[in-house]
Amino acid sequence: MKLLVTGGCGFIGSNFIRHVLATHAADRVVNLDKLTYAGNPANLADLANDSRYTFVQGDVCDAQVVRDVIRGVDAVVNFAAESHVDRSLMEPDAFLRTDVFGVFALLEAVKELKIARFLHISTDEVYGSVERGSSRESDPVRPSNPYSASKAGGDLLALAYWHTHRVPVLITRSSNNFGPHQYPEKVIPLFVTNALDDKPLPLYGDGRNVRDWLYVLDNCAAVDLVLRKGEAGEIYNIGGGNEVENVALTRAILGLLGKPETFITPVADRPGHDRRYALDSGKVHGLGWRPAYPFAAALEATVEWYRTQEAWWKPIKSGAFKAYYEKQYPRR
Ligand code: NAD
Ligand code: DAU
Repeated sequence: MKLLVTGGCGFIGSNFIRHVLATHAADRVVNLDKLTYAGNPANLADLANDSRYTFVQGDVCDAQVVRDVIRGVDAVVNFAAESHVDRSLMEPDAFLRTDVFGVFALLEAVKELKIARFLHISTDEVYGSVERGSSRESDPVRPSNPYSASKAGGDLLALAYWHTHRVPVLITRSSNNFGPHQYPEKVIPLFVTNALDDKPLPLYGDGRNVRDWLYVLDNCAAVDLVLRKGEAGEIYNIGGGNEVENVALTRAILGLLGKPETFITPVADRPGHDRRYALDSGKVHGLGWRPAYPFAAALEATVEWYRTQEAWWKPIKSGAFKAYYEKQYPRR
């Protein structure tokens, strides 16, 4: 199979490309990535000499670029997005552009060139905060921040292209991923790297918000399965089944690093902060997927990865990230 993967220099996309090439020897991958602040070619440095892998720097919103790279592929997997909720509160423009218009440009090219499959990567955040129970694929979307509203817009457009034009769209909605190569604005890598630097861990609000943690390699296996075995026009939830309050997660990270709990620093809550996400993953279980990595062991392996990979995250944290951090956490 020849795949176009968009956003492949980011966190999940880079793990996914590595997973595909490791598990499907005959596959080839073209990676289209704009290289925003979150895109890092170093995430795939180990594939530099792999003739099955090609990198193209470009924007998914650029119809001509998209048409050129899509021609001749068997399937498209769209990871490209602005992905950080806090940034969407400060500068939402890029979210609307990439997460809605980028999907539009890809759908148009997939339709025109009659590509056999378009897997669009979405998120559990489109269901909004879930106080009790869990979200099913048939539930309505109720996004509550500019990031999740943009992602919901992309999803609805993709489903509309299936409904009206029979463009063979599939959608995955996963819960919070964690693992190697995650940009250190997200809570786990931020807290691990701050703790390693003996800096405060800024915990929002009362710290009791709940996220369902999914190891990135489990998500990659599920996405790959949906790509090959899923049904066009369908949505698949992918949940880790590990609901954890932020304060408990923070304590676990500090415990693994042998750092004191006095590092925990309560800060003002994120505006509109969703309390809890939870997914019913019965449909993807029906395809045969189950998470393979127990949460505690995967968290330990992740913490260990950041502990030993300072060469990866130190340049990020001392570069452009610094200005963002000072704006985001003014009192820290
Ligand atoms: P990320 O921010 O780490 O990476 C995004 C990648 O997309 C970067 O390489 C960036 O350069 C690229 N990109 C951004 N705008 C682009 C554009 N206009 N054209 C081409 N490339 C562009 O994101 P991630 O955490 O790896 O998330 C990947 C996808 O998974 C996103 O669609 C996100 O909404 C979704 N998702 C993420 C999580 C999570 O926990 N991280 C959970 C559920 C769903
Ligand atoms: O649920 C899936 C979503 O998970 C993805 O769609 C998004 O792309 C991804 O960024 C993630 O969104 P969250 O907002 O849940 O992730 P984040 O790591 O930003 O925050 C996780 C929780 O930790 C959330 O309740 C807010 C809290 N938090 C976060 C940061 C950055 C803090 O308490 N302090 C912080 O400094």
